[in-house]
Amino acid sequence: MIILGVESSCDDTSAAVIDGASILSNVVASQNEIHAKYGGIVPELASRSHIRNITIVIDRALRDAGVTLDRVDAIAATNGPGLVGSLLVGLCAAKAIALARDLPFVGVNHLEGHLLSATIEHRVPFPFVALLVSGGHTSLYLARDHGDYQLLGATRDDAAGEAYDKVAKMLGLGFPGGPALDRLAAKGERAAIAFPRARLKKRPRDGDAARFDFSFSGLKTAVWQYLRDHPVRDDSHAADIAASFQAAVVDALIDTSLAAIDSVGAERFVIAGGVSANSELRAHAQALGAERGIAAFMPSPSLCTDNAAMIAWAASRRLERGERDPLSTNAFADLEL
Ligand code: KG4
Ligand code: ZN
Repeated sequence: MIILGVESSCDDTSAAVIDGASILSNVVASQNEIHAKYGGIVPELASRSHIRNITIVIDRALRDAGVTLDRVDAIAATNGPGLVGSLLVGLCAAKAIALARDLPFVGVNHLEGHLLSATIEHRVPFPFVALLVSGGHTSLYLARDHGDYQLLGATRDDAAGEAYDKVAKMLGLGFPGGPALDRLAAKGERAAIAFPRARLKKRPRDGDAARFDFSFSGLKTAVWQYLRDHPVRDDSHAADIAASFQAAVVDALIDTSLAAIDSVGAERFVIAGGVSANSELRAHAQALGAERGIAAFMPSPSLCTDNAAMIAWAASRRLERGERDPLSTNAFADLEL
């Protein structure tokens, strides 16, 4: 089955064509240059840029895949969560094509797209624990089956990617600074500065189920205070700060995920979302195999950040079960998994 997927939930306009689990094309038009001078995403500018790019990106995805719309069997688009003005652009474009071509349509939850992205390239049997870590989310789920996800914990304040972007900004690394901070950290010493790791008390939730939460705002403030008292001296000092910050984030992500994995007795661990492209997080997750007998799966770096291939793939899982959505499907800023 050939599926055209569209993703426009935040600041990337993306379209992809997949055939089963093979990705025929995955075009991502980034808006980084537009938002960089504001140091963050400006929703109005994001929507306008999506409108300018959407047809170009969809055309390009079809061309790269070497198919025309005549060959496409179904259309999918993200319908939340995200910026509503952004979501509506991709969603309306996708629904319009589905209507004009009389094709089945599927609205995909962006978080499910990320969560299943690791299963495009790897066969990962259910159940598994998934850490979804991006610029907007840091959550742990127990994935029992397609469409059956139990929230095990989430950040109580900033998402990990948001902390990366804010600390990168403090270090003058531009926006979004996650990838630049990752590269700088590789040149530093992770134990140089003892930044705090939030130790959260387990909160009862859903009766007796434990909850595995994260918090990154204290760490962000600690880096700010450190920089106020110790301005960056030279490149190696900046690298030590980056490495020490990254160590605190990765330790918190891995330790809390392990507690959740142990609590449900899972043997498989999936990490997805933009921050799963982080080199140290990937190395630590991979090491869990030898250390703890836990098999860790992550998407290739190009499938970690927002992309439409993961949306088309999540839609294919639902289409396979005979599901489809009406063309009245709307966009929602908050959409639970
Ligand atoms: O999944 P994504 O593209 O968008 C959201 O749904 O949020 O994630 C983007 C986030 C940004 O905060 C970005 O800085 C972060 O992922 N990110 C990274 C790396 N690559 C992207 N953070 C740390 N290390 C990286 N290599
Ligand atoms: Zn995302």
